[in-house]
Amino acid sequence: MTVASIILAAGQGTRMRSKLPKVLHPLAGKPMVWHALQAVNDWIDQPPVLVVGHQAEAVREVVGGDARFVLQEEQLGTGHAVAVAEELLNGQADTILVTFADMPLIRKESLQLLIERHLGSDRPVTMTSFIGDEARGFGRVVRDASGRVTAIVEQAVATPEQLAIREYNVSAYCFDAEWLWQALAEIPLSPKGEYYLTDVIGLAVDKGLPVESLVLQDPNEAIGLNNRVHLAEAEKVMRQRINEGWMLAGVTMIDPESTYIEAGVRVGQDTVIRPNTHLRGDTVIGEDCDIGPDSTLINTQVGNKAQIIASLLEFAKVGDLVSMGPFCHLRKGAILDTGVHLGNYAEVKDSYLGPYTKMGHFSYIGNARIGENVNIGAGTITCNYDGEKKHFTEIGAGVFIGSDTMLVAPVKIGARSITGAGAVVTHDVPDDTLVHGVPAKEIRKLERSD
Ligand code: UD1
Ligand code: CA
Repeated sequence: MTVASIILAAGQGTRMRSKLPKVLHPLAGKPMVWHALQAVNDWIDQPPVLVVGHQAEAVREVVGGDARFVLQEEQLGTGHAVAVAEELLNGQADTILVTFADMPLIRKESLQLLIERHLGSDRPVTMTSFIGDEARGFGRVVRDASGRVTAIVEQAVATPEQLAIREYNVSAYCFDAEWLWQALAEIPLSPKGEYYLTDVIGLAVDKGLPVESLVLQDPNEAIGLNNRVHLAEAEKVMRQRINEGWMLAGVTMIDPESTYIEAGVRVGQDTVIRPNTHLRGDTVIGEDCDIGPDSTLINTQVGNKAQIIASLLEFAKVGDLVSMGPFCHLRKGAILDTGVHLGNYAEVKDSYLGPYTKMGHFSYIGNARIGENVNIGAGTITCNYDGEKKHFTEIGAGVFIGSDTMLVAPVKIGARSITGAGAVVTHDVPDDTLVHGVPAKEIRKLERSD
């Protein structure tokens, strides 16, 4: 049995009031359509077929090789959209799973159950529904006196009696492929000028064929996103799911409500995440770390046993046992090796800091390579930019940089050397040398203790 998937994403999404196509709006850091693809990927052998229409090019560009595309040039309804995919799939699959790209909260486990239920039956179609309190434009599931599904009626054409029904159509379906292609051709044009996919249910029942609905227990799975209020609701549900997943995997959260972890992030066991912390992009955090409060990490890697308080880290790499904060800013290309300590107001960009180097108070290090066990005094600045170009600073192991030192790059400080407080270093300093003054001059050679 081959199962293929069709995901509808051709609609305009007018109510988002956005320049961005609806299905590209991010949810937990990934485009809505990414979540829809994730939900089906485990159950199919070939990439899903994505039906695109409005801003098709933009959607194609983002999704790339993760789907096959068919273009629905005119949006003539969900039934019409599925029919457009026939050209790619006719004869290619026995079973067709249909979902919508604007329903990113549907769980892969629910779709697995739907497929299992369907494959274990002789029905032409198995649908999904849920019992809820808010109609929000959902199609109503009509059942007969014995409880059998007889039709889905769209809100726009429902009678007052039907409008009162509280069982709603989710819009995840499993079809027998051959039956589907032929049923799609029989869908009548609705009064609104669309071909409703939902009408195939009634078509099956009219022919005496059995239909069943898998009733989902969690109404959140059916949240369809039509505007940005729905987007925020979905974001919250997604956040809860992600946080629960990490907590069950061994991560402590002091306040999950104010912990924001995007879908691409990984967190190690026994790490504690404190309130108002945002872990974004492809951030990876090791074990036994203490992160937050008030920290944002974007595409950053953190080793084990690190401690980060009230800081912003972007495209950075932080080793084991690093401690930093409050108010540090690691920018692109900052690499802190094992045991580095940054105190308050430290900014590091495109620089490597060697093991156990310390920078306790308000300093800027950019375009530098700093050895191990270096002490960077308060107010140290790498003057790396001359107005046109960036220049490099190199500091050897065991150096002591005095408070308020200006390192005018390009410049190199030899191993174990010392700069006096307030030094403006404009020339390279050899190993084991004390310099001081403006511009810094050699005072004397230092005796090596080792
Ligand atoms: C649809 C269902 C409704 C269900 C609800 C669940 C139909 C007729 N109605 O209503 O029973 O309760 O979803 O959220 O199916 N699309 C296309 N091409 C089209 C039209 C739509 O690709 O020509 C896509 C849209 O991009 C969207 C999805 O299909 O991803 C659903 O379309 P939408 O117009 O939002 O349907 P609903 O009114 O929500
Ligand atoms: Ca919708």
